[in-house]
Amino acid sequence: MGDKTEIDTFASTSETEEYRFGYTHEEMERLRYQHHVWAQENQRFISRAGFSTGATLVDLGCGPGYTTIDLAQIVGLAGKVIAVDRDGENSLPLLKERAETAGLFNIETRAANLETFDLQEGSVDGVYGRWVLMYLPEAKVKSLIGRIAKWLRPGGVCALIEFCNYRHIHIHPQSKYLPEIAEALIQAVTGERGCNPEIGNDLPGLLCSAGLDVEINVTTKAVRATTQEWLWPDALFRNHLPALVKEGFLDHSIYDDFLAEWEVRSKEPDSIFFGSPMMEVIGKRL
Ligand SMILES: C[S@@+](CC[C@H](N)C(=O)[O-])C[C@H]1O[C@@H](n2cnc3c(N)ncnc32)[C@H](O)[C@@H]1O
Repeated sequence: MGDKTEIDTFASTSETEEYRFGYTHEEMERLRYQHHVWAQENQRFISRAGFSTGATLVDLGCGPGYTTIDLAQIVGLAGKVIAVDRDGENSLPLLKERAETAGLFNIETRAANLETFDLQEGSVDGVYGRWVLMYLPEAKVKSLIGRIAKWLRPGGVCALIEFCNYRHIHIHPQSKYLPEIAEALIQAVTGERGCNPEIGNDLPGLLCSAGLDVEINVTTKAVRATTQEWLWPDALFRNHLPALVKEGFLDHSIYDDFLAEWEVRSKEPDSIFFGSPMMEVIGKRL
């Protein structure tokens, strides 16, 4: 679908540059649980951003589009959401299917790499992005923030949410092995391309340097074992740790010991998993 605000929709998905956790059915489901668990915080964040009916918004790295659907409902038929993701094969078709089922015809999908994706100056009212900048090489984030600031109309708002302290993740009662698991996840996301899994810390400064008026907030999340919400960390560990062992980020024996401990903790109602604090940054173009 063409669009006059669009400059570049080149999608690049070479083997080494793909999204760290892949595009399997299990990963799409993990993103769904994750969205469900963070739904209330996300609604609060979106309302703080002040996105309103009739606005043109961009959803950066929308994946299967759980956030896109929320944004599309806010802007209504008088507005639109440009949903951008490099994965045009799995994620965007899933989003289109769900949008059609929900009767939302105000979403335009773009299979594009955010390292180069661009729009016309002053062409949008808002830009939203959650858990995506952490998968871009750190050096590319700065130039993307510069482009985002340029896309915004005066009064336009950019709302970004990213992790800011991954080493904070822990379990109560304390796990012997989780710190090494967190470290392996950090190293795997960083990878050879130099991504920053805690890019949330840099966003306030980057948005400020791009000339936006910046406001921040930090949120965290804890979930209890034996509840539906436990599926969120459970899916992360079960789906993705085996690949980290295979690729040498995690020692096999630590993985085995952690998994045995996790099995036990998962059955105990007093177990609590604490996620990484999340930096919520709102930048306004004056
Ligand atoms: C963890 S998922 C988050 C999806 C969605 N933002 C959410 O909050 O549910 C990260 C998404 O970022 C996308 N992504 C990562 N790097 C990208 C890039 N350079 N260009 C476009 N999309 C990218 C991935 O394809 C993936 O769909």
